[in-house]
Amino acid sequence: MIASAPRRAAIEVRPVAGALGAEIAGVDLSRKLDDATIDAVIAAFHEHLVLFFRGQRLTPEQQVAFTRLFGPPMETPFVEAMEGYPFIVKVLKEADERNVSTFGNAWHSDFSSLAEPPLGSILYALEVPEYGGDTLFANMYAAYEALSPGMRRMLDGLRAIHVGKPYGTKYGPGKELRTSRSIGIERNRPEADLEVSHPVVRTHPETGRKALFVNAIYTLRFADMTEAESRPLLDYLYQHVTRPEFTCRFRWTPGALALWDNRATLHYAVNDYDGSRRLLHRTMIAGTRPV
Ligand code: SIN
Repeated sequence: MIASAPRRAAIEVRPVAGALGAEIAGVDLSRKLDDATIDAVIAAFHEHLVLFFRGQRLTPEQQVAFTRLFGPPMETPFVEAMEGYPFIVKVLKEADERNVSTFGNAWHSDFSSLAEPPLGSILYALEVPEYGGDTLFANMYAAYEALSPGMRRMLDGLRAIHVGKPYGTKYGPGKELRTSRSIGIERNRPEADLEVSHPVVRTHPETGRKALFVNAIYTLRFADMTEAESRPLLDYLYQHVTRPEFTCRFRWTPGALALWDNRATLHYAVNDYDGSRRLLHRTMIAGTRPV
C-alpha cells in the first residue's frame, strides 16, 4: 500500500523586505481555506510577521471568519464599532479632513496598554488614496537582536508601564489636537489611565524568540522609575527600533489585506494623504499576557 503524501498548500510567499513582511499569492480569503493552506499561512505569519494579500473581495463576515483562524476575535476598546459588527472598526479619513491626527499615526503595537494585548490585527482596504496612506512595520526581534549584549542583559530584567494615553484623561494628546471625526475615537475615559506592567523584552509564545516590547503611543516609563528617568533610554529605543533596516513599507491597493503580529512588530500609519478618502476595515485577534 502506498502511504498518501502530506498535502502541500499552493501558496506563494514573496518577501517584500529583508527585515519582515511577505506578500502571499494564490489564496482567496473569501473561501473556506483547507487545513494545508491554513498551516502554510500560519507558518508564513510566524516567519515574516506581517503578511499582505492583494485583490481580495471580503464581506465583513468573511473578514471576521479569517480573523478567527488565528484565535478569537476581540472588540477594539475606545473606538466605535461598525454598526452590526462588534469586531470591526472602520479606519476612515474623509477627503475633506485636513490637518487632523489619524488612527495609528505613531509607531506602536496595538493596545499594549491592555493586560492582554491583541495577538495580531487585520486591516482590509476598501478605498485608498492613489498615493500616500502607506503603513510601515518594524521587526522587534531584529531590533532586540541588534542591541549590544550589555544592553540586552539590562533590558531583559526590566518591566515597563503602559497606559492608554490617547484615550485617557491624564496623558492624552490635549485639546489642541484635532482628531479625525470619522474614526469615532472615545477620549477622556478614566479606565484608559490604568497602568499595566509588561516585560520590556517579551518571549514570543509560538517561536520562542525574544522581541522588544515598548512603543511611543502606550509606554509611559520603566517600572519603578520616573518618566524623566525613563525618557532618555525609551527615546533611544524608539529611534533604534525604527531604523530602516528593521522595517518594511506597504503600499495599499483596494482589496489588499494586511495581517500583523503585535507580539513582535510595531507599525505606523502614514498620514500624508489630505484630500483623499481612505477606508479600511480592521479586526483584532485576542492575545495573552506578555511574558
Ligand atoms: C492601525 O494602527 O491599526 C492603523 C493602521 C493604518 O491605518 O494603516
